[in-house]
Amino acid sequence: MNYKFTLIPGDGIGPEITKSAIRVIEGAGIKVDWEITEAGLCAFDKYKDPLPQDTIDSVAKNKIALKGPLTTPVGKSFRSVNVALRKEFDLYVNKRPAKTYQGIKTLYFDHIDIMMFRENTEEFYSGIEHYIDSSRTAAETIGIVTKRGCERIVRYAFEYSRKNNRKKVTAVHKANIMKYTGGIFLKVAQDIAAEYHEIEFNDKIVDNMAMQMVMNPYQFDVIVTTNLFGDILSDLASGLVGGLGMAPGANIGSDIGIYEAVHGSAPDIAGKNLANPAAIILASVMMLEDVGELKASQRIEKAVAVVLAEGKKVTKDINPVNYVSTDEMTDAILEKLDTK
Ligand code: NAI
Repeated sequence: MNYKFTLIPGDGIGPEITKSAIRVIEGAGIKVDWEITEAGLCAFDKYKDPLPQDTIDSVAKNKIALKGPLTTPVGKSFRSVNVALRKEFDLYVNKRPAKTYQGIKTLYFDHIDIMMFRENTEEFYSGIEHYIDSSRTAAETIGIVTKRGCERIVRYAFEYSRKNNRKKVTAVHKANIMKYTGGIFLKVAQDIAAEYHEIEFNDKIVDNMAMQMVMNPYQFDVIVTTNLFGDILSDLASGLVGGLGMAPGANIGSDIGIYEAVHGSAPDIAGKNLANPAAIILASVMMLEDVGELKASQRIEKAVAVVLAEGKKVTKDINPVNYVSTDEMTDAILEKLDTK
């Protein structure tokens, strides 16, 4: 079967790492007709629009997109295109696995395998903020949390757990202080958990959660939380398994998925063939799983794991002394693909 997916190469290292992902997907025997589109700083420089309508139309039509990182200027110019894409397509699920791979140095732990689900559209990422005095010395950000928004992310986390034989879901909140927004989320999580008798459920207040994740991450299996806490805790989880270079992410709505590496556009190494392609390749693994190409996705993940474990053909961020280029690491992954 031939797929048609949208490709957004993006900014900085985006074109280099998405090229790697495309080669590996093809190497695993999946035929994709990629519709190449633009977004981010490169689109803004060219069209004065960081999210051109053609890109939106392409994602709407093809339903699946692989996206390189997009540069967001800090404190000025356009707002995050990543957030705009999530809003445009109502991509309410942010799925972020944190998994250790042999060969990747971690500070404390091995054998971590946590799946985090972050609500992706509500709360403090609604973009509703303003100064509250004329001299701009005070500002307010409004975070809206709805029962419907909580229900769909919590439900998604439980359904994922049931399908993937996960044993426990932890809901993370701050309902002791944010009694209304946090309260709605916690009540929804408790109610939905009661429908899934085979899955253990508990909840944690976010500050305690951060400490517990560092002290004993093995107590967590699947985590579900609201937008801001998920943003922070998923990076913490990435830190436990060796950093953002290894972290893939998926933004999923009712019928559209955008898959990406969690790291940014890394302007310091862009164009130098130094970037680690593992995160975007692991994002492709999630993409292939979601379209039902399980064999290909498993083959790719295994090939990445073998290359990392051997540690001979890895990029500089993994082995600063003895390293290869992005393209060479990609070649090594291709060589390890078991296509039988
Ligand atoms: P960054 O993730 O781009 O870079 C942080 C550090 O990690 C840099 O030293 C970089 O060289 C290194 N790094 C990142 N990815 C790497 C890879 N694949 N291989 C090897 N080293 C890697 O974060 P930073 O510098 O804060 O952000 C740069 C730009 O990216 C900003 O404009 C930011 O808004 C944007 N960004 C975009 C994201 C997205 O599109 N999903 C996510 C995060 C940041």
